[in-house]
Amino acid sequence: MIDGKKVLFSGMQATGTLTLGNYLGALKNWVKLSEEYECFYSVVDLHSITIRQDPAELRKRARNLLTLYIAAGLDPVKNCIYYQSHVSGHAELAWVLNCFTYMGELNRMTQFKDKSAKHADNINAGLFTYPVLMAADILLYQSDVVPVGNDQLQHLEITRDIAQRFNAIYGDVFTIPEPYIGKQGARIMSLQEPTKKMSKSDENPNASVYLMDKPDDIMRKFKRAVTDSEANIAYNDSQLGVRNLLDIYCTCKNITPEEAVKEFDGKGYAELKTAVGETVVSVLSPVQSEFERLQKDKAYIDGIIKANAEKANYIATKTLRKVQKKVGFPERIR
Ligand code: TRP
Repeated sequence: MIDGKKVLFSGMQATGTLTLGNYLGALKNWVKLSEEYECFYSVVDLHSITIRQDPAELRKRARNLLTLYIAAGLDPVKNCIYYQSHVSGHAELAWVLNCFTYMGELNRMTQFKDKSAKHADNINAGLFTYPVLMAADILLYQSDVVPVGNDQLQHLEITRDIAQRFNAIYGDVFTIPEPYIGKQGARIMSLQEPTKKMSKSDENPNASVYLMDKPDDIMRKFKRAVTDSEANIAYNDSQLGVRNLLDIYCTCKNITPEEAVKEFDGKGYAELKTAVGETVVSVLSPVQSEFERLQKDKAYIDGIIKANAEKANYIATKTLRKVQKKVGFPERIR
């Protein structure tokens, strides 16, 4: 608890260009959650180097992502928006937690298996202990809740196991975090293969709508979106393309699928696609123009980066000192 509020932690990697799926599935919810929780939203650059990165590119993307958090509506005074690499406590706690994590546990992580298959020439130890660093992120701030997608649930599970194991030995050191799983509409699928999640790295240029896409491109991608031959706008499991379009529409407009289906009663797929495209354009345009405005205001963003790194460091150090004392490191002489 901080100032009577529960603590929330989440982070994103600055790899690839964010998609509409990242926005509707994560960022938009983060903004809502920030009303209720004391939030830490990190740009997790330590995690990014588990895959080889171009340094200049990583730095640029990380700054853009941090700016985008703010452009999407996260108040950087109320929320702690910061770079993971600016708080050394993440790496320090990760080391300690590494010593409380078993090889067997990490061997079971499906993301490690997937990523090592994909990057067979660079299966580094960081990739293997990635979930431990993630546990450190979360536990450092005594987080109560962590909004994550399904793909990260296993990492949250191991975080809880590590925290419980540590607490069982040393007493109540860590808050045990709970996953926060978003409501319907959170999972946005590819516009070309609606059985697949919309991805930053899809090779088909029409599959994903990017956060920074121009209105014309957005409209074109929706016009080409895969539907079916039913010619019936309904929300069900056998019309996945149409369902995905309705999910996008509903999430943008904060309405239910029933309401959307009613709205499109008697209309055709072309009308549906145009309506969804226009709605997405109207949701993304203000984020894009705010991003461009903020990007030019270097001094303002620098100020946010500095102030939030200090705030994050202050909270992180409290947990870190407690942990260091528990495991038997000598006290610092001041
Ligand atoms: N691994 C997460 C992802 O790729 C990002 C992340 C790092 C994260 N640390 C976290 C998410 C802590 C939630 C909490 O999506």
